[in-house]
Amino acid sequence: MEFKQNVLCIGAGYVGGPTMSVIADRAPDVKVTIVDINKARIDAWNSEDLPIYEPGLYDVVKRARGRNLFFSTDIDGAIREADIIFVSVNTPTKTFGHGAGMASDLQYWEKTAREILAAANGSKIIVEKSTLPVRTAEAMSTILNSNDKGIHFEILSNPEFLAEGTAIRDLETPDRVLIGSEQTPEGLAACEKVVDLYARWVPREKILTTNLWSAELTKLTSNAFLAQRISSINSISALCEKTGADVSEVAKVMGQDKRIGPHFLKASVGFGGSCFRKDVLNLAYLCEFYGLHEVSAYWKSVVDMNEWQESRFVSRMLENMFNTIAGKRIAVFGFAFKADTGDTRESPAHHVVRDLLDERALPIITDPKAIPEAKRDLADVLDKVQFEADPYAAAKGAHAIAICTEWKQFCDLDWKRIYDGMEKPAFVFDGRNLVDAPALRDMGFRVFQTGR
Ligand code: NAD
Ligand code: UGA
Repeated sequence: MEFKQNVLCIGAGYVGGPTMSVIADRAPDVKVTIVDINKARIDAWNSEDLPIYEPGLYDVVKRARGRNLFFSTDIDGAIREADIIFVSVNTPTKTFGHGAGMASDLQYWEKTAREILAAANGSKIIVEKSTLPVRTAEAMSTILNSNDKGIHFEILSNPEFLAEGTAIRDLETPDRVLIGSEQTPEGLAACEKVVDLYARWVPREKILTTNLWSAELTKLTSNAFLAQRISSINSISALCEKTGADVSEVAKVMGQDKRIGPHFLKASVGFGGSCFRKDVLNLAYLCEFYGLHEVSAYWKSVVDMNEWQESRFVSRMLENMFNTIAGKRIAVFGFAFKADTGDTRESPAHHVVRDLLDERALPIITDPKAIPEAKRDLADVLDKVQFEADPYAAAKGAHAIAICTEWKQFCDLDWKRIYDGMEKPAFVFDGRNLVDAPALRDMGFRVFQTGR
């Protein structure tokens, strides 16, 4: 079949895979190819067992794959064929040299730019899909456009706002799509092409266009504001525990104020996920770089508060379990960083398990989706942890249950059966305020929730 346009995405991860699958689904006359250096990942995208768990993703892939959606490792061939190239490779926190622990590691991005440059045989639109420090497009343009092939690369920024667990819904009905471009005739024309792609299913008024730097910076600040709300409510959760106030009540009433709004005010064991920590630290680093030390310290404190919240979870267990958990079986309910995903990157549960191990407790981990990832994350301590697919088996003989992920399945368990199988007194530390605490207390549990 003759396609109207060839769109390529480099990087078949949590963002590239779902985002491009939805574009292919909604634009059947556009050929969408997704490439990756990781062959196992591409093989999985081409199989019935997709490499990531995301509700609704399989159906979208199934509709488009083989029709106008293709997963491949032929990166050079796909670059040559493409009109528009989205780049969605990973941009983790740098672990070495200047800015280690804070700045973005841009090596994968730069490598990709150089691969595009080497393979391209004509002008292309390059779209930053990865989250990047503000002004990255400038560096990319310099690298790409200093070629002697006489070809031009127009760089756009189209950051992604999907959240894992709701990615398909977020992509199909986004709050907004953001496209940043240079305000030149070429930049604006390139921008219009990407607007047209999204306009197949996104109402025009929700497609916002800005200059390049605003688009890059909006992505970082959106994540920083979301993370800040969680750190703010988590800081209040600690005060609630001291004073007898209930953080859920406080958040509910505050959220009714339209100026504050109800979302992202759930106190928890801490925020996880691959991006909040990295993006807030990157923002703080950028501020530092531009000499804005006070602004940097302000944003850094969002991450500091999160680390404190994660670490006080096990401290609270210790306080209430007679100051020792050494040798005690502790069932960890949930290892994913949030419900409805198998992703465990920066999961607060991981932090909790490491703290439990420091106290010489025996963690038994259960999770509906993330046990393989948990085994990989804990590869260095596999002799000190156990894994159980069945939550009843995980809780059997345990002194305490630590709820770290808000999987709905955990609410629906037969908690009386769990209670009967546990050591007494039986404790529940609910890091997600998930269970019906009064009902569990009636059964005999000692229940501790966050901010209550
Ligand atoms: P990921 O690690 O799941 O996927 C990145 C993929 O890029 C990997 O499969 C990797 O093999 C591939 N890759 C790296 N270098 C490559 C190269 N030179 N050529 C081809 N493939 C290459 O990462 P992700 O979670 O999809 O995140 C990607 C970007 O999107 C990051 O910048 C992240 O901050 C941003 N983002 C992530 C989310 C999210 O929910 N995960 C949401 C919004 C934005
Ligand atoms: C987040 C943003 O919500 C997305 O808009 C953004 O695109 C993405 O980061 C990214 O750039 O990677 P994600 O990390 O997938 O998405 O998931 P969130 O729903 O934001 O949750 C992040 C963490 O905060 C989870 O651990 C979650 O449990 C926690 N959280 C969330 C709370 O503790 N309380 C809340 O009220 C909300």
